[in-house]
Amino acid sequence: MQPAHPLDAVTHPDPYPYYAALAQGRPLYRDAALDLWIAAHPDTIAAVLRHPAARVRPVAQPVPPGLCPGPAGDMFGRFVRMNDGASHARLKTLLAAFIQQQQQQQQQQQQQQQPALETPTWLPPAPQNAAGVDRYLYAAPVHAQAAFLGLPETVHADCATDIADFLSALPPNAGPDRTAAAHAAAERLQARLESHLAGPQAAPAMRTLSADAALAGIAPGVLAANLAGLLFQSCEAGAGLLGNALLMAGRRGACAQPTGDVARELIEDVLRHDPPLHNTRRFMAEAADIGGQRIEAGQTVLLVLAAAAAVQPGAGWTFGAHGHACPGSDLAIRHAANALMHLLHAGVDATALAARFRYRPLPNARVPQFDFLEDSNP
Ligand code: HEM
Repeated sequence: MQPAHPLDAVTHPDPYPYYAALAQGRPLYRDAALDLWIAAHPDTIAAVLRHPAARVRPVAQPVPPGLCPGPAGDMFGRFVRMNDGASHARLKTLLAAFIQQQQQQQQQQQQQQQPALETPTWLPPAPQNAAGVDRYLYAAPVHAQAAFLGLPETVHADCATDIADFLSALPPNAGPDRTAAAHAAAERLQARLESHLAGPQAAPAMRTLSADAALAGIAPGVLAANLAGLLFQSCEAGAGLLGNALLMAGRRGACAQPTGDVARELIEDVLRHDPPLHNTRRFMAEAADIGGQRIEAGQTVLLVLAAAAAVQPGAGWTFGAHGHACPGSDLAIRHAANALMHLLHAGVDATALAARFRYRPLPNARVPQFDFLEDSNP
């Protein structure tokens, strides 16, 4: 049975024929039941992404109300991902330059220090069972990103826990306990990254970032929140990329000791054929005519990136496009390939995992879950 609608497709066993038909047959339409416009063709998605009235947050709600007031809401409101306009453009330029420079410097160091295929020490310990694999999927991208930022190994696990706490407060029905945990996590992350930015151990690229931010009038607190934002951005999509790679490895009967090149090819195949992120959204600040349709102010557009990818595999749709395009795609691929190698070399049985899983009921990310009771709600 094909998916009932695009949100249903995220957890469907094989939504890709549906996505391709949607992109070709219904490039932009209104789904009254979902109260969403749906953009599914590469051209209509691009037109929405480029439109100045299409914002990353609803105008009246820059931060989800459940997170306000408090440190989690403050942090969310500072993320480059959640802002438009001049403040977004300034920060995005600096963060993208930092990511590029830090990547170049780390690669040079690694080539001098160790053979490229050695398992990085900063990954979490290999999991022993399905529940451990589920935790690993979410923790490994954060460990990798924390290592990339130069944070000491002793705090990587704490960062992963804090990001998990922050993430779990985002659904509107999260409840007071999760919200309280997210505020505490945001406070710790903010303090940790502020002191890392100012500390003597900050890498040259990080010092350049601080200096350039000061020149651009960006406060250290905003910069620190955005470094925490890089941990946050890497987490759920990274979990989906690694999880879907395990499934693909298991289905293909992939070799248990893959080389770095083999692991990377598999990750790239996953990005083309079973991507980790299927949707993003835009919120109309003003009425706009797009793709021959009138979209009113206040309405929401679901951008079905996976539908665009189904008709243009290899165009990188899972990493977005235009002004808010992901600056971390190369890192995400490298980190996922490292983690996949680590898991398979440590004896994780991808074939057994691919034989029993379900997808987490998420609106945008496609993340498998391996530990669950039959007939239980996730
Ligand atoms: C598989 C992993 C990843 C996927 C699929 C992914 C996907 C995306 C997508 C689709 C967007 C654009 C969202 C939109 O336009 O609404 C985005 C934005 C962003 N991503 Fe990633 N991402 C991944 C990993 C990472 C990593 C590792 C980093 C950290 C370096 C990162 C940092 C960011 C940032 C900072 C933004 C906001 C950019 C902006 O608003 O201008 N992402 N990502």
